[in-house]
Amino acid sequence: MLQDRRVLLGVSGSIAAYKAAEITRALVRENCQVTVVMTRNACRFITPLTFQVLTGRPVATELFSGDEVPVPHISLAKWPEIILLMPATADLLARTASGRADDLLAALILAADAPILWAPAMNTRMWNNPLTQENIKRLVALGHTFIQPGAGELACGERGDGRLAEPGKILAAVRKALFSRKSLSGRRILITAGPTREPWDAIRFLSNRSTGRMGYALAQEAQDRGAEVCLVSGPVCLPAPSGVRIIKVNTAREMQAAVMPEFLETDIVIAAAAVADFRPSAACPDKLKKNSAPPAISLEQNPDILMEMGRCKQKQILVGFAAETHNLEQAGIAKRKAKQLDLIIVNHASGPEDAFGAEAARVLLIDASDTVRELPRQDKHQTAAIILDQVEELLPAKQAKP
Ligand code: C5P
Repeated sequence: MLQDRRVLLGVSGSIAAYKAAEITRALVRENCQVTVVMTRNACRFITPLTFQVLTGRPVATELFSGDEVPVPHISLAKWPEIILLMPATADLLARTASGRADDLLAALILAADAPILWAPAMNTRMWNNPLTQENIKRLVALGHTFIQPGAGELACGERGDGRLAEPGKILAAVRKALFSRKSLSGRRILITAGPTREPWDAIRFLSNRSTGRMGYALAQEAQDRGAEVCLVSGPVCLPAPSGVRIIKVNTAREMQAAVMPEFLETDIVIAAAAVADFRPSAACPDKLKKNSAPPAISLEQNPDILMEMGRCKQKQILVGFAAETHNLEQAGIAKRKAKQLDLIIVNHASGPEDAFGAEAARVLLIDASDTVRELPRQDKHQTAAIILDQVEELLPAKQAKP
């Protein structure tokens, strides 16, 4: 979660400038504060208004604007936690490497203390030019970080190095730069997420409405905090969180087979998957034909993976989820005890806003002393951050590291 983190985005004049809008959107979606500064040439490719609307903040372009801020480059230079220069042109690189301060962006870079991340984009010839490469070397020696451009088709029609790196790669670099607080570094976390699918015939299955969002948000948050994350995921339509090891499964029994060997080596388990409790007793290998009377499905019980982990847990902190429509507190306490969990998160699962699979979550956290903490309905990334804060509090008492 990038809540209230401060990123200054410097945009320079490249055809890839429109991609900066996509990155801005992704950062703002995580409640990150983004202030955009554009060079004059950047404004030829995309308007300041685009970024102003996306960020809800004014966009600065001029060193001498005559506004109420007399020296904007100094106030802007002091504000961010990191500076992301994207897309960065050969010209911006050259001006920075030679210490120029001839426009607002160059001046604030010169005045800033924050770490600087470069995402260059330019023609291959310009990228490969020894002058550009010398400028990069010089900046790297001064502690700047470069997100390597990709290779491929360029806007000018040529092919080669110089394409702006993929958005996922840029976002991962921003996260890495922002999260120096590695509160979970050295810890292994196993997370289950998503629904399972229990086949009935060659094309039909039983499943549920789980989207996997909660588990994926937890995996991203844990990864941001420096944990080694293994995500065992049922079928979902979400991109894999960056840097996380992911094992994809379909059925409850496949999830069990993936989880149990990992479990022994892990410090924390968070079971966010909505595992199907039952499966059709016999899955027909072919497609069942339409009959005059619909066939009855006979079901049998799936293994309760979390219950099994509770039975054989040693040092692991075990966190489970429950989705309940009534008596959340009572049901949560009973389930936590039955599965020997250190913490259980109970989802409200009634009403349209709290329906299973909804965008936001409204949950109760119940710990081992049955203390109940109620969280407001909020984005699942925010909920994930609070859950991991509480899990971290359990860590030192149970598993003080030498
Ligand atoms: O008993 P109930 O299904 O409500 O328990 C939910 C919790 O148990 C969740 O954490 C879920 O991931 C886990 N679970 C499991 N295996 C099952 C059923 C649930 O690991 N077969």
